[in-house]
Amino acid sequence: PAAGAPARLGGPVVSIAHRGASAYAPENTLASFRLAARMGADVTELDVQQTRDHKLVVVHDETLKRTTNVEKVYPKLKPWRVKDLTLKQIKKLDAGSWFGRTYKGERIPTLAQALRTVADSGTGMLLELKRPDLYPGMTDRVIATIKTDPRWRDSDRLTVQSFSWRYLKPVHERLRSARTAALGKPRADQLFGLRWYADAVHPDHRTVTPEYAREVHSQWMDLYAYTINDRATMRRMISYGVDGIVTNRPDVLARTLRRG
Ligand code: G3P
Ligand code: CA
Repeated sequence: PAAGAPARLGGPVVSIAHRGASAYAPENTLASFRLAARMGADVTELDVQQTRDHKLVVVHDETLKRTTNVEKVYPKLKPWRVKDLTLKQIKKLDAGSWFGRTYKGERIPTLAQALRTVADSGTGMLLELKRPDLYPGMTDRVIATIKTDPRWRDSDRLTVQSFSWRYLKPVHERLRSARTAALGKPRADQLFGLRWYADAVHPDHRTVTPEYAREVHSQWMDLYAYTINDRATMRRMISYGVDGIVTNRPDVLARTLRRG
């Protein structure tokens, strides 16, 4: 497929930058997304959660402690859950310094900002609904936000994934061009039900076997394995027949796909 297009059975292996090029830039920031495209990723992966005032933000952990200076800025707001701070409060945080001085001043992006930056970068997007069970109305808000973006609303270069599979149903029904993917490793009997509203499964690479890849493909679903950062494991997964590889190091994957 063209860069950023969804994988097709038997097509080339798709490169997905996990939280952006997160080995080299602070995860889930606009800097990390831009770098992913420059390193040859086809698709940019990111995690969506919801603030206290119901705004959509891109951040992985349920708390802001690991990837921002929240402890210093709001010492009284312990344990610093994303859902306990407003967007205005979150926007004051530095989401880059923890990673390195070069990235001082990077902010946690809103979903709308991330959609614009990733579209500008030219990659596709793999959007994870992170804990939709924890955030009432989040899935509806994600769908509405995508629908307001002219470059994503009818795009088949967008995949929505979640460990909470049932939240993929409304996405499948209301964003007709988008793909959906179940995170984890559904059993054979679960795959049969899932294929009505999911196009792919995205398991942890440590659970993937050639037999499982065949099982997924027999249901006409794609398989992307996460998160693989070394060439030996990348090569092994490719030999198993995976359709995509999620990596923190899109440059390493690009070299592996080029040279083997
Ligand atoms: O794309 C797979 C991966 O993002 C799922 O795990 O914890 O990094 O969001 P996690
Ligand atoms: Ca994720």
